[in-house]
Amino acid sequence: MIESSPEFKVKWLTDIPNFPTDHVSTFDPRTIDIYHSNRVGLVNSLGVSEEHEALRNITWSAKELKPEYIQFDYTDVINNDDALLVALQQLKAYGFVFFRNITKGNENGPKAMGTRVGRLRDTFYGETWDVKSVAQAKNIAYTHQFLGFHMDLLYFADPPGYQMLHCIKNGCRGGESLFTDSFYAAEQMRLHHNDAWKILKDFKIGYHYRNAGEHYRYSHPVFKYRESLGRTGEKETLDVVNYSPPFQAPFVLRGGLGDSVNQAKFEEFRDALEIFQRLTEKRENIFEYKLAEGEMVLFNNRRVLHARNAFEPGDGERWLRGGYMDTDVVMSKLRTLTSDVKLDVEKWRKCAPECGAVQANLGLKYKGAKLETPANADMDEEIASRFPGYLL
Ligand SMILES: [Fe+2]
Repeated sequence: MIESSPEFKVKWLTDIPNFPTDHVSTFDPRTIDIYHSNRVGLVNSLGVSEEHEALRNITWSAKELKPEYIQFDYTDVINNDDALLVALQQLKAYGFVFFRNITKGNENGPKAMGTRVGRLRDTFYGETWDVKSVAQAKNIAYTHQFLGFHMDLLYFADPPGYQMLHCIKNGCRGGESLFTDSFYAAEQMRLHHNDAWKILKDFKIGYHYRNAGEHYRYSHPVFKYRESLGRTGEKETLDVVNYSPPFQAPFVLRGGLGDSVNQAKFEEFRDALEIFQRLTEKRENIFEYKLAEGEMVLFNNRRVLHARNAFEPGDGERWLRGGYMDTDVVMSKLRTLTSDVKLDVEKWRKCAPECGAVQANLGLKYKGAKLETPANADMDEEIASRFPGYLL
């Protein structure tokens, strides 16, 4: 039985077992109309929104990325929904943003930002955790050595989507943070190394962590795509990348040393991964920045690879505090703000995120000095010496 005005009310002939006999479902007529006027057959209605969101990713090499697109005043973002919305839009587009001017004495930016956005992801490291150099560290992150490009916690079945690092002290020489867009490298491979790209979609790498009473392991392909229309008409879009050489598990030849079939497959995979590695480590693709005290970076842990230069532990103190958030939490806040915050829609529509004018149009001007990346273009050799090549 259906009544249609002003809402659609449906009393079901076969309702959910044990529901009360007077149970009625109510639908907004506009929602019914959207589904009714769908002439393309049965499609997943949510898939359309997911495609739309995937199209908001803007891949970058460092030479094209303007730092002013991705820097925000921390207090603005904590207090002002417009600022948070634009920061999350830019985060979605570029995969990372920086918050600056965190008040001295505030030592838990990740906790405050996690609460502001939604909630933190708890792991065996705790809701937030400290990165300090310690003697006999159980994780390379807690040493002063160079730490190559990686993603965190790929030994989980569902690794955290986003990571924050709040710089509380950085008095040591060195210790610059490095970022590179793995989605850009994947796109370059799809276009210019198509066979190798296909291998990295299929071949799974194992990751593991077994230490101090914890034992995690999981395997992922390097590129994980989802079915949906891409920007240039391809039938799939990149969902996540999985790449974390420091935490890779050993490979096993199923048939032992005489297993030439799997040996050949492995060699093809290794060559493909080397192409990916070289693309991510190209100087022009690396965004290098030394976090200053009172700054925090928030980045997509399934897209933007992070690394750290070695630092001199005797020089001073280096202390970062980190935290994770799930992709669902970040995207939920982005969606609710997009529908709730009354931005000037016309101005918003005119501003593609890549033009960098979004903040300017909203009057969100950064109050401090600009982020500056090293201008030295002759660093290729020096960079190459720092990245030894995990598989070579
Ligand atoms: Fe890390």
